[in-house]
Amino acid sequence: MKLLVFFGLLPVVFCAGGLMGGKSNVPNPEKDDQIMAATNFALGELNGLLNSDAKMTNVKIVSAQTQVVAGINYYLTIRVQYGADVKECDVVVFVQSWTNTNKMTSQNCIDLKATKRSLLGGIVPADMDADTKKAISFGIESFNQRSNSMFRSQPLKISNVSKQLVAGNLYKFDADMQETQCRNSQDNMNKGFTDCQPNVNGLRNVCKFTVLQQVWETPQWKLTDFSCNQGGLLGGDSHDLCHLAHFTKFKTDFNKNYETTQEEKKRFKVFCDNMKTARKIQDVERGTAKYGPTIFADMTAEEFGLRLNPKPWNLNVRPDNMLDADIPQGPVPTSFDWRDHGAVTAVKNQGSCGSCWAFSTTGNIEGQWAIRRQKLLSLSEQELVDCDKVDQGCNGGLPSQAYEAIMKLGGLETEKEYGYKGYNEKSCYFNKTEVAAKISGSVKISQNEVEIAAWLAKNGPISIGINAFAMQFYMGGISHPWKIFCNPTKLDHGVLIVGYGVEGSEPYWIIKNSWGPSWGEKGYYRDVIYCQGYYHVLCCVFSGLLS
Ligand SMILES: *[C@@H]1O[C@H](CO)[C@@H](O)[C@H](O)[C@H]1NC(C)=O
Ligand SMILES: *[C@@H]1O[C@H](CO)[C@@H](O)[C@H](O)[C@H]1NC(C)=O
Repeated sequence: MKLLVFFGLLPVVFCAGGLMGGKSNVPNPEKDDQIMAATNFALGELNGLLNSDAKMTNVKIVSAQTQVVAGINYYLTIRVQYGADVKECDVVVFVQSWTNTNKMTSQNCIDLKATKRSLLGGIVPADMDADTKKAISFGIESFNQRSNSMFRSQPLKISNVSKQLVAGNLYKFDADMQETQCRNSQDNMNKGFTDCQPNVNGLRNVCKFTVLQQVWETPQWKLTDFSCNQGGLLGGDSHDLCHLAHFTKFKTDFNKNYETTQEEKKRFKVFCDNMKTARKIQDVERGTAKYGPTIFADMTAEEFGLRLNPKPWNLNVRPDNMLDADIPQGPVPTSFDWRDHGAVTAVKNQGSCGSCWAFSTTGNIEGQWAIRRQKLLSLSEQELVDCDKVDQGCNGGLPSQAYEAIMKLGGLETEKEYGYKGYNEKSCYFNKTEVAAKISGSVKISQNEVEIAAWLAKNGPISIGINAFAMQFYMGGISHPWKIFCNPTKLDHGVLIVGYGVEGSEPYWIIKNSWGPSWGEKGYYRDVIYCQGYYHVLCCVFSGLLS
């Protein structure tokens, strides 16, 4: 419905000659019926706010401008008389005629400090009118959308509700949130405790919300600020994270040697900072993953970032000739692991080079070759780093483009023939006579995780993009981070899904990484599957094709 209305408005925008968003002056405002109507409406609102018998009256409309938004904003400068006082003030009135909406969205007539009731601009307890209720339910839904909990949360109590007129209405409130027994899915939106029983062992959170309503914007409502205290689940001292003994154990575990004492001191400090970060991630972990001193625990975020894609992946990059995959219909096995079917090579190590995209691509083609040609080959990433000129070697790339490059080159050499160096070489040493595996095309699979599983079980491991946040400190288990860390616009790491399974109530992907076998679960990562497809952790779900 909204969409129809919006398109219905377009001819008006163009007929009026106004530029969407621009303001235009109205030359004789007092001769314009609509300006007069907006002015009278503003006066009524102002007088309502004054709440006194003395009324403010309009002396003159000094100037008027209109702005076409999803309706019309009237910017009015009016001269008003109030008692013996005459003053000029600026008001903004928003009118959306097709919804009968008239709102004064801003004014500077009434000085809140001088007015006893201190209404405008001042923070007042908000009446529980329809808009306030809408603001609260909007805040609650936003909370649930951002949470990656399997269960929906509901406020046990709402308090400290206030409303402030700024450039729009700013609502603030506190909510004591309690997890319920309802799944956190769109089907359960707007449900309360009568529909969803509280989950007494569930997460309890005291949260502060700030919600802004700007009636002339689409969408009208925004969550502008939001914080929760995790209801006592957080805690633990941070000083126990960073004993020298921990650092010593870490050095032994990963055979770390530092050249100077100064370097060692610096690394100890980085290690301590990192362990605090790991603790924070652990505190909000909703799955079974453990975060702590991995092989990367002495690296700064910049150093660690060298193995990620410097820029988030552009989800829209897709070669013209990449096909949509056929998704198998019918039942999907409850678990599947291509490692049990000889389609996955040993875990490799990309080193300090942002070549994850190349490993993600070769891993997929290795799987295709093993399954369709019955031969498990370890294929060359360095060939892609050096010879795929569309991608940027150690500075990042995209599997979708790598498939194209492989077809143009004529195929992939093996790891043995074209070994991994972990840096951008000066030239491409590709030798066509040494090609060991070829592809004839590539497919884009799906972002629906049920369809991904169906395709995987039938066809083989899949190249995907994920957000590597938290992976620096991942020690094992099923990672189930907060949804904001699965932001599909922040995908910075290419990996390979080789299977999936379920443990307890957590369904998970088995993901082959390229950070060597001493990271994670022998080089693998398990990441929760967001069942109903509401949460897209994955992007760029691709496979090469063999003819
Ligand atoms: C409401 O505000 C008061 C005063 O700032 C504060 O003490 C109280 O904790 C707030 N209520 C909630 C539920 O946060
Ligand atoms: C390419 O590989 C073939 C077979 O291994 C070899 O005989 C030939 O010398 C190579 N060419 C180059 C330019 O290295």
